[in-house]
Amino acid sequence: MPRSVPSASTEERNGIVLEAAISVQGLTKAFGPQTIFEDVSMEIPKGLVTIVLGPSGTGKSVFLKHLVGLLRPDRGRVLIGSDNISVLHGRELYALRKKFGVLFQDGALFGSMSVYDNTAFPLREHTRKPESEIRRIVVEKLELVGLRGAELKFPGEISGGMRKRAGLARALVLDPEIILFDEPDSGLDPVRTAFLNELVLDLKAQTGATMIIVTHHIPSAAQVADYIGLLFRRRLVSFGPKEDMFTSTDPVVKQFLAGATDGPIGMSEEKDRPSDSPDGSKT
Ligand SMILES: Nc1ncnc2c1ncn2[C@@H]1O[C@H](COP(=O)(O)OP(=O)(O)OP(=O)(O)O)[C@@H](O)[C@H]1O
Ligand SMILES: [Mg+2]
Repeated sequence: MPRSVPSASTEERNGIVLEAAISVQGLTKAFGPQTIFEDVSMEIPKGLVTIVLGPSGTGKSVFLKHLVGLLRPDRGRVLIGSDNISVLHGRELYALRKKFGVLFQDGALFGSMSVYDNTAFPLREHTRKPESEIRRIVVEKLELVGLRGAELKFPGEISGGMRKRAGLARALVLDPEIILFDEPDSGLDPVRTAFLNELVLDLKAQTGATMIIVTHHIPSAAQVADYIGLLFRRRLVSFGPKEDMFTSTDPVVKQFLAGATDGPIGMSEEKDRPSDSPDGSKT
């Protein structure tokens, strides 16, 4: 499989050509007998906000991990610009990952480090900036997420929402080109969720970063998304501009956006995967 292809894909819509920051091509992935994705393809537009939706257990977090090269597809590939991250290792993978700021679903803070040291970690790891410069950046980002004053606390001493916001600050310190947020708003109160949405729109305007956000909060998706993708039963059910998704007649899309119990999506992940059999074959 080639490491690099001549150019990133583009999509034409209303005469406007969108450059893809990330091109997911035929992503197929199974864990043992459980198939998570089958032939998922998506062109994530550069400089825009893409929201990834899907029922719990569908594979949204697994999807984000493929984008940053933490998981590798069984088939298919993920291009970051023209680099195939799915086949990179070692130094090359490390270098490409510097483009990303990632907030994992659980915050993934180092429990033995203060909020300050957690936030400073990527700067110390990836740059040779002096501590005075690191301090300026860390303080700025903690201010941005409303965590000034909590610098010296440890993850075990702060609330879940504060941990989330510390993870957010850490994801932003390297001024990333691509930002992945896995449920940044879970555990946040409505006011802080509103601030978070403002922050996302500010980041988009000021930095031009490409953002991919997993959320279950439809009002946030309605507010900040440019593009929305919906994952369900191993597939990308629908992907397109926000307006198209909110006027979609697809039963899965309609049910999910309305949060309705009536429709193809059920209560349990097992019901959402009725065709998975123990040997991994599909019906
Ligand atoms: N490393 C792994 N090994 C085996 N199975 C995994 C692994 N990571 C995830 N899974 C499985 O893949 C499926 C999708 O998980 P994932 O965490 O991506 O769901 P999700 O859509 O993010 O759900 P939620 O909305 O609850 O966060 C789950 O059944 C999970 O158990
Ligand atoms: Mg998840």
